[in-house]
Amino acid sequence: MKLLLKIWRQKNNDSKGKLVEYPISGIEGDMSFLEMLDVLNQELIEKGEEPVVFDHDCREGICGSCSLQINGEPHGPDRLITTCQLHMRKFNDGDTIVIEPFRATAFPVIKDLMIDRSAFDRIQQAGGYISVNTSGNTVDANAIPVEKDKADASFNAATCIGCGACVAACKNASAMLFTSAKVSQFALLPQGQVEAAERVQNMVRQMDLEGFGNCTNTGACEVECPKGISLENIARMNREYLTASARG
Ligand code: SF4
Ligand code: FES
Repeated sequence: MKLLLKIWRQKNNDSKGKLVEYPISGIEGDMSFLEMLDVLNQELIEKGEEPVVFDHDCREGICGSCSLQINGEPHGPDRLITTCQLHMRKFNDGDTIVIEPFRATAFPVIKDLMIDRSAFDRIQQAGGYISVNTSGNTVDANAIPVEKDKADASFNAATCIGCGACVAACKNASAMLFTSAKVSQFALLPQGQVEAAERVQNMVRQMDLEGFGNCTNTGACEVECPKGISLENIARMNREYLTASARG
């Protein structure tokens, strides 16, 4: 395949970025999207030009770091996958592909396609944990009965990989889907009840402090989420928040 890539190049967060065109050829359908970028970078290095900076780690849909906006869609045209799981067979010979970083005030650009998603880490740190007695009298987690449907819903919420596609897909750059997944995975379990009220209030407060927008129920986040995190988590977080606030 021959393709025309239009890639966002930006030196750092203080400088202005722009789309730069790169024609590329010899791309196979079974290459992953990141392998295609590797081919481009190899060519740029051989020509003595600066390679395109993009984030990646596991390359198997686990770490959530490969956050790219591809032709206007977070993680590209496929559903329920990350950019590293996207295959070039999804594109046609002669296509133009526009590749940009995820856009949100709370995700400043570090360089080119790499963004700073540490705002998500700070939301996690605000409440994404439980306190466990590790003094030697720790109760085995399996000793506490959990209803199957609740265990499944908690597990599903816990599959959020913190990629940020929900924020990039949202016209308000809202982080409600991410935050609600992190709240829900504990809210559904008995082990999460002790700090439940404090957790939801602290995590929502941190989410607002980071500059994410409000949720206006468009559902774009759920459509673009590579892990299929459900909007039900947002409804649950809202209920948890209201209950916690009413109790003071
Ligand atoms: S909710 Fe989905 S889109 Fe948002 S950070 Fe988690 S995995 Fe990514
Ligand atoms: S590189 Fe880890 S999810 Fe894509």
